[in-house]
Amino acid sequence: MCGIVGYVGDQEALGVVMDGLRRLEYRGYDSAGVAILDGGLTVERRAGKLANLDKEVTAHPLTGTTGMGHTRWATHGAPTDRNAHPQTSCDGAVAVVHNGIIENFARLAADLEDRGHELASDTDTEVVAHLLEEQFTGDLAEAMRTVCRQLDGAFTLVALHRDAPGVVVGARRNSPLVVGAGDGEYFLASDVAAFIAHTRDAVELGQDQVVELRRDGYTVTDFAGGPVDVKAYHVDWDASAAEKSGYPYFMLKEIAEQPVAVASTLLGRFADNGNLMLDELRLDEDELRAVDKVFIVACGTAYHAGLIAKYAIEHWTRLPCEVEMASEFRYRDPVLDRATLVVVISQSGETMDTLMAVRHAREQAARVVAICNTNGSTIPRESDAVLYTRAGPEVGVAATKTFLTQITATYLLALYLAQVRGTMYGDEITDIVEQLQGAPALIQATLATVEPVRALARELAGAPAVLFLGRHVGYPVALEGALKLKELAYMHAEGFPAGELKHGPIALVEDGLPVVVVVPSPRGRNVLHGKMVSNIQEIRARGARTIVIAEDGDNDVTPYADSVIRVPQLPTLLAPLVTTVPLQVFACELALAKGHDVDQPRNLAKSVTVE
Ligand code: M6R
Repeated sequence: MCGIVGYVGDQEALGVVMDGLRRLEYRGYDSAGVAILDGGLTVERRAGKLANLDKEVTAHPLTGTTGMGHTRWATHGAPTDRNAHPQTSCDGAVAVVHNGIIENFARLAADLEDRGHELASDTDTEVVAHLLEEQFTGDLAEAMRTVCRQLDGAFTLVALHRDAPGVVVGARRNSPLVVGAGDGEYFLASDVAAFIAHTRDAVELGQDQVVELRRDGYTVTDFAGGPVDVKAYHVDWDASAAEKSGYPYFMLKEIAEQPVAVASTLLGRFADNGNLMLDELRLDEDELRAVDKVFIVACGTAYHAGLIAKYAIEHWTRLPCEVEMASEFRYRDPVLDRATLVVVISQSGETMDTLMAVRHAREQAARVVAICNTNGSTIPRESDAVLYTRAGPEVGVAATKTFLTQITATYLLALYLAQVRGTMYGDEITDIVEQLQGAPALIQATLATVEPVRALARELAGAPAVLFLGRHVGYPVALEGALKLKELAYMHAEGFPAGELKHGPIALVEDGLPVVVVVPSPRGRNVLHGKMVSNIQEIRARGARTIVIAEDGDNDVTPYADSVIRVPQLPTLLAPLVTTVPLQVFACELALAKGHDVDQPRNLAKSVTVE
């Protein structure tokens, strides 16, 4: 949530910062602003999307080679010009941008007002600008350290001071901030995407650290001013991966990239002895053998991936597996101990709810494995082991390719656990791995046949609501289909287990209501398939317009389906890799037919760094 860019070097900072903000706009898009140092300190900010600010700074460019910018997802204060960042001090000497929530801002603001400061916005951020004004005696980094020690909550802060030319100072606690190290130029950003066009050399900042960027280098300390070790890394993708590459929307590109994303996630994962190769492993096999319970913890789409993983983990490892929304996990005091394996799933690696779940689990001595798409992000750093999904950057706010890669990664993890614990034979594992390796081609084949899904979506753009039904792994797929439609098309959409429908939700079914049904393979549990065919008849008898997703060759559903969407055959547990795809396309096309921006749906941000 909120995108931050800082720059010092020899280029015009405005261009670098605006370009960085464009690449970070997925993090928030209700207002934006920049501050540029050039003898004086000039701030421009505008409510609305970045285009509004762009218009202003194109008409009246700001010059200077030190600067910063912000794209906002509002927490405190409405998305207005006044509440946009940068926020400034009374004397206009300090400008600050912020991502996160300063929990003790009300008390700090009252104290500042008692000391004569006038606060001009409704934001929690503004207090930092005034506190820096008070603390600054020539060393902005030192002032930042002093101020950070007074703050509670989560924050990434970046600041400029009129009297600190060529200096950009950043600080982080519980929110992301990365340094980009170029040749005679340095960057700060919420995400490497902001500076990837200039450098692929990045430096992770740790918890409670302050960084000072100058043209000749950077210095990192803790909040007390002590030296710290930092980890440098090279980003393994380039700027072109975060471009639309001819697609009108990132989401369309990311849907199309799914075969490659899944193939990359599978690539080279097994050593010669068959062991899964985790990217970072601070767990040994004895610890995995001692596990007696698995929790999967995640939010949103990642939570749906976890629900699918539960079926595979329980079936292949015979370990009990619970799946929990991260925002609920720690507050209900789950029973965890050293024999509990907590698997957290997060595309961004920065989702605050999930991060707090990681910390809670580790405090209870549980072992934590992260499945994550973002190298160097906080969640993998704080976990005991990491399996990276290699989907590449996902810019569209709606998760698509990362969902399929998350499912893939959980299959790998489940197979690995099964192997270590001896709950499957080697040839059974090999058989599934081979099926998984064939999945990218089947996802590609699914994508090649989605044109009728698009036509159907356009036809249903006026529907008041859509229901989604599934059984077994088809149930989380139904939830994901409904979530996509809600977030992109702003439509009422619900996913239900098909068997549960008769216990209440069937009352929603009325003449013409579109109901999408994800049908399990008849080659899996025959009884499940048969029951689903009955469920389709039940809703059709009540007037539903039935849209049935069924595997090739399943002709039992045809008589009861108003529309059939075909997907290639895969084993039951792996089927979500193909059944999800038409639902993504359906939601995207329906939202486009309604004239919505599918990359930046209203009220959302991609990386949710507040609880
Ligand atoms: O970065 P994360 O995977 O932790 O994000 C979790 C959710 O916020 C995310 O999946 C969200 O639900 C997506 N926008 C859904 O498309």
